[in-house]
Amino acid sequence: MAIEAPEGRMSKDERDNLNELTRKGKPAGTKVIRQMNYNDLSSVYELAHNTERLDIHTPYTYWVMLNSSPKLMLVAERDDAIVGFVGGLGAFGDGESAFVWQIGVHPRWQGSGIGSCLLRRFVDEALSLGFRSLVFTIGEDNKGSFRLFAKFAHSIGSNLKKVDETGSIRGLMKNENIYHIALTRNI
Ligand SMILES: CC(C)(COP(=O)(O)OP(=O)(O)OC[C@H]1O[C@@H](n2cnc3c(N)ncnc32)[C@H](O)[C@@H]1OP(=O)(O)O)[C@@H](O)C(=O)NCCC(=O)NCCS
Repeated sequence: MAIEAPEGRMSKDERDNLNELTRKGKPAGTKVIRQMNYNDLSSVYELAHNTERLDIHTPYTYWVMLNSSPKLMLVAERDDAIVGFVGGLGAFGDGESAFVWQIGVHPRWQGSGIGSCLLRRFVDEALSLGFRSLVFTIGEDNKGSFRLFAKFAHSIGSNLKKVDETGSIRGLMKNENIYHIALTRNI
């Protein structure tokens, strides 16, 4: 299946690469959510860039994250190409919360349910590790991210509670709202 990407979203090399990967014989649309591994790190780093929205951390930071909370580092594959990822940390703040650090879906595939699948699996992993709530931050203007988390919270009979703000670290970053979702109901 040739992928028609919106102009300007992917470079020609990226498009060719994705097209090549999707020709490998699996039915179009096959999706897998699995644990991230070392070999995924370069693709995840590149994908973070491609979202044009996520903060870009160093490759070393992704490596540290992978080794700190391996069960909370997940990728979404579609026809063998990595099209999304979520990364988090355990024991955030009160020790009962898992922290969703970054979630991103390639612009070509946004709005097709991949972010929701990643978040659902992240929560399953967090619950199996004994966490009872999620904490994450969202920028004021990030409607997509807000909708993703609000929809998820609603699906489990919970809600998004704004608990604080990050502040701007003396103007070095944009302020983000800190949210909490209790994972105790309807899961
Ligand atoms: C936020 C993000 C991860 C959501 O992933 P996704 O695969 O697009 O999400 P889904 O397809 O599962 O959609 C979940 C809900 O969010 C909505 N949504 C997704 N992107 C949206 C956008 N840009 N604006 C408004 N709503 C959006 C979907 O419509 C859906 O709600 P609906 O079922 O009521 O229509 C993805 O859009 C993304 O990578 N954004 C850039 C990176 C980012 O901002 N990450 C979050 C900060 S860490």
